[in-house]
Amino acid sequence: MTALREPDLVNDVAEILISADRIQSKVAELGALVSSDYAGRSVTLVSVLKGSLPFMADLMRAITIPVRIDLMEVSSYGGTATESSGLVRILKDLSSSIDGKDVLIVEDIIDTGLTLNYLVRYLRGKNPTSLRICSLLDKPARRLVEIRIDYLGFTIPDQFVVGYGLDYGEHYRNLPFIGVLKPEVYTAL
Ligand code: PRP
Repeated sequence: MTALREPDLVNDVAEILISADRIQSKVAELGALVSSDYAGRSVTLVSVLKGSLPFMADLMRAITIPVRIDLMEVSSYGGTATESSGLVRILKDLSSSIDGKDVLIVEDIIDTGLTLNYLVRYLRGKNPTSLRICSLLDKPARRLVEIRIDYLGFTIPDQFVVGYGLDYGEHYRNLPFIGVLKPEVYTAL
C-alpha cells in the first residue's frame, strides 16, 4: 500500500530514535566482531532487500576479512503497509550457490520473525556450512516465532520506525537515522 499524501522527510518524523552516529559506531562494532569470529575464513553476506541495503553497504565495508555478497528480495503476501501477513514470496533469489559457504544473513529489522523464519529454512536447504543472522534492529514485542539473532545492533520498542533503509509506503528509506514516524502519517490513509 502506498501513502496517498506526499511524504515530508523532516516533519513526518516525531523523534530520532537512533542517530546516524550511533548507527555508524554500532556498524563498526558489528563489522569488527564478524571479522574476528570468521577470522581465517571468508563469509557470504546475504542481504534481504530492500530495507537492508544501507546496512549491508556499511557493514560490508566494516568487515576486514574476505566477503562475497548476494542479494535476495522477498515480500510478504497480503498484509498492510505496517503489518506483515506471514506468508513470504521470493522476488529475487540468490545469484550464486551457497553450498559449503559460511553464510551471514543481513537484515534491517526482525519484527514478527516470520520473514527470517522462512528464509532460514529456505537457505538451510541450500547446504551452507554455517548460517547466522545479523540484524540491525530487533523489535521483540511483536515476535511470533523464535529467532536466534547472532549479531544484533539495537533492540527497539514497538514503534513504527523508518529511515536507514526502513520505509513507510516505500519512502523515508534515505533518512540517515532511525526515526519514529508520527502516527498521523500512517493513520491518514
Ligand atoms: C521488512 C524487513 C524484514 C521484515 C521483517 O521487510 O526488512 O525483511 O520486514 O518483518 P517480520 O519479522 O515481521 O517478518 P519488508 O517486507 O517491509 O520489505 P522491504 O525490506 O523491502 O522494506
